[in-house]
Amino acid sequence: MTTVLSVEYRRDHVLILDQTLLPQQQHFIRCTTTKEVWECIHALKVRGAPAIGMAAAFGLAVWANRFPGLNFSDFLVKLEQEHRFLASSRPTAVNLFWALERVTAAAKKASSVPEAVQAIENEAMQIQQEDEAVCRKIGEHALELLKDGDTILTICNAGAIATARYGTALAPMHLAKEYGKQLSAYACETRPLLQGGRLTTWELLQAGIDVTLITDNMSAHTMRTKGISAVIVGCDRVAANGDTANKIGTFGLALQARALNIPFYVAAPTSTIDLKTPSGEEIPIEERNPEEVTHFGGKRIAPEGVKVFNPAFDVTPHEYITAIITENGIAHGDYARELPRLVNQEKAV
Ligand code: MRU
Repeated sequence: MTTVLSVEYRRDHVLILDQTLLPQQQHFIRCTTTKEVWECIHALKVRGAPAIGMAAAFGLAVWANRFPGLNFSDFLVKLEQEHRFLASSRPTAVNLFWALERVTAAAKKASSVPEAVQAIENEAMQIQQEDEAVCRKIGEHALELLKDGDTILTICNAGAIATARYGTALAPMHLAKEYGKQLSAYACETRPLLQGGRLTTWELLQAGIDVTLITDNMSAHTMRTKGISAVIVGCDRVAANGDTANKIGTFGLALQARALNIPFYVAAPTSTIDLKTPSGEEIPIEERNPEEVTHFGGKRIAPEGVKVFNPAFDVTPHEYITAIITENGIAHGDYARELPRLVNQEKAV
């Protein structure tokens, strides 16, 4: 598995792996301001729900370390401003807001600027450490649903570089490899930004895991003809009733999996479960720049003036989800009852 960290805290700056340049280049961006972190999140240089939460938390830690002065109430007012600013970078993944809340709450418990700076830094580092353990647990639970030799189909990249390590949907692949078991993957390319074609393939090839790339419109045919045992996807937000927002194209995969009687699993840390959002109807879906669709590799492919609809995510209704796999265990269908139990249960890590 790649040992590259997508986000690395260095106190007066945070290093962000530029995922838009992968797999051609492994380049790190040195961010010293919240504005630079905001831009990295907004432009998907760092992406994946847990990774953007970590980047934002470290962004606040860098800001706090560079805060001039010792006036604590002034510090807290400015912290709230920076918090709101970073929270405006992307709307769908709840981990972003969850991580920012965690570090801000830690600062509010302090009683001086130096104490608050330390609290923010500790909390942000704790989020990253926990995420590694959480992803490993998700992988362990996912393996309970799979058997040696299975072939899974996935979309986007819910892997190591979208998290602290292991990933969510890709965690069982990495753990199977570690345990000497064989799992193979089909990776949907994931138009328009090709997180599957560029990132999942790169990550799995690096780990020595069998992966085959397909374009998104090949998924139903692949499920029917290539012995797909399960579809596993990550997610950006799970509503209280189990409706799940993930990369655009996920809902289509769920419909295809249902028609073909293939289990459809969502892998998510409990930090992605948002019990305050009752259903998928209330999940804000990010719409991105039309150029992501009209252009390919920097070159225009669609006629000037064409109308474009470019949602970054879709919502899969809970009735199409066979199970939601978290670090605290697996929810099997009665999500309104099971998700609060998993979220509020004592931490597994
Ligand atoms: O737009 P992206 O690349 O940030 O979308 C990411 C996804 O849809 C992932 O599946 C999700 O964030 C989970 S990452 C563990």
